[in-house]
Amino acid sequence: MSLTDHTHPAHPHPEHTHPAHPHPDQPRSPDSGPGSTISGSDPDRGRVLAAATGGLVTVRGVRKSFGDLEVLRGIDLTVRPGEVTAILGPSGSGKSTLLRTINHLETIDAGLITLDGEVIGYRREGNLLHELPEREVLRQRTQVGMVFQGFNLFAHMTALQNVAEAPRRALGVPKRIAEARARELLALVGLAEKTGEHPRRLSGGQQQRVAIARALALDPKVLLFDEPTSALDPELVEEVLAVIRRLARQGTTLMIVTHEISFARSVADTVVFMDRGAIVEQGPPSAVIDHPAHDRTRSFLQRVRTGEEEPSPRQDAPAPAHREDTTSPSHPASIPTSVPRPAEEQS
Ligand SMILES: Nc1ncnc2c1ncn2[C@@H]1O[C@H](COP(=O)(O)OP(=O)(O)OP(=O)(O)O)[C@@H](O)[C@H]1O
Ligand SMILES: [Mg+2]
Repeated sequence: MSLTDHTHPAHPHPEHTHPAHPHPDQPRSPDSGPGSTISGSDPDRGRVLAAATGGLVTVRGVRKSFGDLEVLRGIDLTVRPGEVTAILGPSGSGKSTLLRTINHLETIDAGLITLDGEVIGYRREGNLLHELPEREVLRQRTQVGMVFQGFNLFAHMTALQNVAEAPRRALGVPKRIAEARARELLALVGLAEKTGEHPRRLSGGQQQRVAIARALALDPKVLLFDEPTSALDPELVEEVLAVIRRLARQGTTLMIVTHEISFARSVADTVVFMDRGAIVEQGPPSAVIDHPAHDRTRSFLQRVRTGEEEPSPRQDAPAPAHREDTTSPSHPASIPTSVPRPAEEQS
């Protein structure tokens, strides 16, 4: 089926309604059909690995503007189950926005995103897409883990409670089971000894590893990382990259925005270079990093290597006025994406 129109009549903001498809790249049907079922999460199955099954992400013709500024200009990308995709690009090129559309922290103006065949954020009716109600969006978000630059742990909770919280609230997992699994996940990220610590007593690298364990706790089909190491002191970067490498080896579907070029080269199946809202080139690291086809990629890599292109300064990820802030943290299905400021700023 080819979609020809993407009005969003259900969307409350008129500026998000868009006319018949504005982009020559017709969004194609997702690789698997719509409406495929999402397997329910079974937290009791004792599986430590997350996203080891499923996790096909398709992004087709996705466009997104903020006011007059078009920040995604027709993005096409496929991430296959178990694959690792590294996204590189200069500041402002749309990397974070792209990740945020994948768990519908941002609406889209055109195109289509699917996860294992299920349209993210919208339901189809003929050629139209209607935005899903919040409850459905939150359900879908449990399948997409996200790890931000700034950790965003709950300061008043221990590491264990931070990890166990989302499964308890979002999935109704009993406390005993959620905590047993949280212990497994904290061990997986090398923090078995720190389960009882509060974030302020953990290093940045340890806090970020708790955040990774927390993202894994919902058994997501895909895990998104937005510059997971750029807020860390250099000596703490490697311990976080080591955990991500381990997830990659274990077959978790990962999308990672990073400025760590050698890490991207070693861990990624596919490297995507974005500039000004578009994918300039994508392919294996041996092509995009070692033999880029485009001058813009070459000059970006050069700037990163010489330190001219810095990772974006530390920001608190969910920015104010975004839709996740409309969700109260006490919402029964709220998950970490709806939460907080970095721990140290809360304490
Ligand atoms: N909520 C928003 N409202 C208005 N403009 C926004 C919003 N979010 C992002 N933008 C703009 O969209 C563009 C892309 O931003 P985005 O955060 O996706 O870039 P990025 O590639 O992640 O950059 P960085 O490397 O600095 O993190 C930027 O020009 C940014 O200012
Ligand atoms: Mg960003």
